[in-house]
Amino acid sequence: MKRNWNGKLTENDVTPESVYMNRRSLIAGAGVAGLGLAGLAGLGVFGAGPAAAAPEGLKPNSFEDISNYNNYYEFGTGKEDPARYASALTTAPWSVEINGMVDKPGTYGLEDILKGKQIEERLYRLRCVEAWSMVIPWNGFELRALLNEVGVQSGAKYVAFETALRPDEMRGVSRPVLDWPYREGLRLDEAMHPLTLLATGVYGKDLPNQNGAPLRLVVPWKYGFKSIKSIVRITLQEEMPFTSWKDANHREYGFYSNVNPEVSHPRWSQATERVIGGGLRSRRETDMFNGYGEEVASLYSGLDLSKNY
Ligand code: MTE
Repeated sequence: MKRNWNGKLTENDVTPESVYMNRRSLIAGAGVAGLGLAGLAGLGVFGAGPAAAAPEGLKPNSFEDISNYNNYYEFGTGKEDPARYASALTTAPWSVEINGMVDKPGTYGLEDILKGKQIEERLYRLRCVEAWSMVIPWNGFELRALLNEVGVQSGAKYVAFETALRPDEMRGVSRPVLDWPYREGLRLDEAMHPLTLLATGVYGKDLPNQNGAPLRLVVPWKYGFKSIKSIVRITLQEEMPFTSWKDANHREYGFYSNVNPEVSHPRWSQATERVIGGGLRSRRETDMFNGYGEEVASLYSGLDLSKNY
């Protein structure tokens, strides 16, 4: 398992794409299937040991796809804008303010946040609300590790996240596409779920700016817009947080935003998705909870998912 504990990779730490792919096929060949909770207990999806694998047959997108077809509206609304313009973002030094209902509020440097964290490789599906998808080999650590460190106080029910807002570096924020800064939120139990990741890299390399460097959320069973990039603030609170997309259009985007093929977006079906990198006509059926139902469906028992979209 690769560990870039301080976020800085040495030559030896990098997993080249080719090595990565070989390791993938080795694991696939061993017939390991299903990312069950038992597997999750093993943590590193491709770590040494018996451990887990991602759902069978998952083939990661190329680094090229992952870093050139992006949504990061702070740099423009075109898919190629982030790759073109996000290099303007200064990502070092970086700090994250953690506040609200926590025992140890404060502004933490990224080095302090990463100290002692086990950086894992997790191969996750990413399903955008726009009905396209990719498979991404993230590096990162579980959000719950950080939340446990700062001590969540009883009474906290939600976690709010905020992206940096830097008009000098982000050419897209001069336009009122969203109510900047980009904000997202999770229920506390969603935030504490072992699938919920804070990502620091892809393919064993530092996260490209366009993918949300230096630290971004990844919640694989929700539409991609929940996976907020370049986080500068995390707030534990009692009330449901303000979220940018719901604020922009609450009929089209809800707070939960769980991937759900049965609940259409008002302007398009969510039953299928276009597979990026799979050729022009490549589509697949969208899975409930993006294929992670076994792990997360119980979080929503008793909730009407067509109303709580
Ligand atoms: N975070 C911020 N701050 N700004 C954004 O525009 N776009 C979201 C999400 N996080 C976005 C964001 C959307 S719509 C998606 S699909 C994913 O990031 C895309 O992540 P990727 O570019 O790394 O694939």
